Amino acid sequence: MTHTLEELIPDYIQGLPAYVAGKPVEEVEQELKIHAVKLASNENPLGPSPKAMEAARRMLGDANWYPDGGSKRLREVLAARAGVRAEEVFVGLGSSEIIDLASRVLLRPGLEGITSEGSFALFSIAIRASGGKLILTPQKNYGFDLGAIARAVTPQTRIIYIANPNNPTGTAFGEAEFREFMRKVPGDVLVVLDEAYREYADRKDLPDAMKLFREYNNILTLRTFSKVYGLAGLRIGYGIGHPTLVAEMNKLRTPFNVTSVGQAAALAALDDEEHVRKSVEINRTERKRLYEQLKRMGLQPVASETNFVFVPIGPRAKALCDELLHEGVIVRPLGWMGFPEAMRISVGRAAENTKLLVALEHALARPAGARARSVQTNEFSNRSV
Ligand SMILES: Cc1ncc(COP(=O)(O)O)c(C=O)c1O
Repeated sequence: MTHTLEELIPDYIQGLPAYVAGKPVEEVEQELKIHAVKLASNENPLGPSPKAMEAARRMLGDANWYPDGGSKRLREVLAARAGVRAEEVFVGLGSSEIIDLASRVLLRPGLEGITSEGSFALFSIAIRASGGKLILTPQKNYGFDLGAIARAVTPQTRIIYIANPNNPTGTAFGEAEFREFMRKVPGDVLVVLDEAYREYADRKDLPDAMKLFREYNNILTLRTFSKVYGLAGLRIGYGIGHPTLVAEMNKLRTPFNVTSVGQAAALAALDDEEHVRKSVEINRTERKRLYEQLKRMGLQPVASETNFVFVPIGPRAKALCDELLHEGVIVRPLGWMGFPEAMRISVGRAAENTKLLVALEHALARPAGARARSVQTNEFSNRSV
């Protein structure tokens, strides 16, 4: 008997949503014949560190050679900075790869992974892609309800994903709350603590995962070079966790997951403290301005610890994102992340934010639907995860 291709693909893979990325600037510019700014994917608007660019350029001449498949030098430097051993560091193709690998190591059909509603979509996708059962807990005040997550743990639970600060809501929890949570979570459940936006947080009491890792070796901390280091296009992230977990993830990754250019750029970016400092400072100033101006327009943005602002809009949210697109401003509609009535605005440079604010104010002043035009929007799917 022959099968169709669909019949050969497991249900848990067929049912997965494809990740919906922010719309690229070039695509919008070509489609609408306008100059556009992208405030949709929480990238660093200042660009990469000049030191990282220089190191990457130099490494290009060696691009005929395979990279160091184990990212040895980068792992050593990251380990020294974090006060851990190199065997406890995993360097990945963005932290996205590590999110996926952690579930692939620990889950299979019959086991469960937990995350919260209203958090980073890849958490849910990773759990489901590994055949595990996805358990979603509700949010509390646009943030993680750690108590609800602890209560959702069963004997089948193997992994929990948490982002602190959270994407897309921008909220964060403090160390005391996290410690209370860790006391409730069994030691044989892995807690993936994704700190992609940590550097942008104003809150001083964020848990220090590197310190907590010494007390709880069931924590896998994730960091990325895609945000404050401005290297999203080079795809490098890292995780710090139990050496056994790191060793198992190493078996599953592709042999040369991180490019030589990426490794060189990451090493140089770590040394460019001035670029990080400037990125955080400009973000802080511009985030405050965005927040205040959005409030002045009568909106209720959620106070953000990140490089983006979550804005509840109401039923008009998606239409408003489309209208902004026509004005050359790409923001993120959040329907597929579970918030059909909100948008997420990445903090850009001052001029980009001003363009957004002017366009938004104009759009809000028009009666709803006044600018309805048929255009492909930056949201391709309504499937929620
Ligand atoms: C919470 C969170 N984790 C991880 C990532 C992915 O980062 P990377 O580029 O390192 O794969 C993102 C990207 O937006 C994110 O928001």
